Amino acid sequence: KSKSHHWKGYDFIPGCSPKATEYAYKNWTFREGDVFLVSYPKTGTNWAKEIMRQILYRSETLDKLTNLLPINLRVLEIDPCEKFKVWDELPLKRRLIGTHLPPELIDVERIKQANAKVVYMLRNPKDQIVSWQKFLQNLDLSDEIMEMVDSGWEKYFEHVVTGECPDGTKRGEWYPDHIRAWYKYKDYKNFYFLQYEEMKKDIIGEIKKLAQFLEVSLCEEDILKIANATSFSNMKASKTSDDNNHSHVLAVNMRKGEVGGWKNHFTVAQSEQIDAILEEKLNGVDIQFTYEL
Ligand code: A3P
Repeated sequence: KSKSHHWKGYDFIPGCSPKATEYAYKNWTFREGDVFLVSYPKTGTNWAKEIMRQILYRSETLDKLTNLLPINLRVLEIDPCEKFKVWDELPLKRRLIGTHLPPELIDVERIKQANAKVVYMLRNPKDQIVSWQKFLQNLDLSDEIMEMVDSGWEKYFEHVVTGECPDGTKRGEWYPDHIRAWYKYKDYKNFYFLQYEEMKKDIIGEIKKLAQFLEVSLCEEDILKIANATSFSNMKASKTSDDNNHSHVLAVNMRKGEVGGWKNHFTVAQSEQIDAILEEKLNGVDIQFTYEL
């Protein structure tokens, strides 16, 4: 893992800034009404984010505002720390804040004091592993990272399970460590688990439960509209039609959107190895993964 890109012993994923994270940790104040979408990369973050954005911001103006924000920040290339000041000035009662950070780098006590909400997105780790390789292969990253993802499935798999792949965790750690760290906060009254596979099974039911957790009342028609607008094919079409750099990354992100694709890559031994690691690392963690539908 690259040495230049870390803070408090955590390696940051490409494109994420330790400096901005440290700035936010020390200076950024959370509010009641804030909603954190916490996830490990490639677990369905963008899908959940789009659904939550549509649940929280039903009005046209706010919709446009929040849509434009990340793109403008990139275009202007402002100092990443500045974005927190911009965020504070936006006329938003509810702020949707997506992060891949481990709890230690956010200071969860501050989230609790503000009474803010946390949604933790989960996906079965086998599909996540495949998705991360395919995603990184499409990016132009350092030689070190590209070698990890491009030297064949076997080697990539080893880098993942030994915790060497750049993923925002400490050296030697990976997805189950991220889950375990956040699971500690499961009893916080504003903590909610969302599962990719449950969303694939019953998106209407999942949107309803999520809206309830977010304390937003939606009519049946709203729910149907959100489900339709955030379907894989509709999200893919809208990301592909936007012509800018940020959308390019999002379009690459819309790969297959399925459950169980890992079977085309894993050997039986690799699958068993993951099962064994999860059993050990997630001992006492009451979460069931769904590996096929
Ligand atoms: P695959 O690579 O398996 O297709 P993240 O947003 O955390 O980076 O996760 C990306 C994964 O979520 C990708 O998985 C992507 O296809 C999937 N995804 C994105 N939007 C989706 C949607 N609307 N429905 C289902 N899956 C979606």
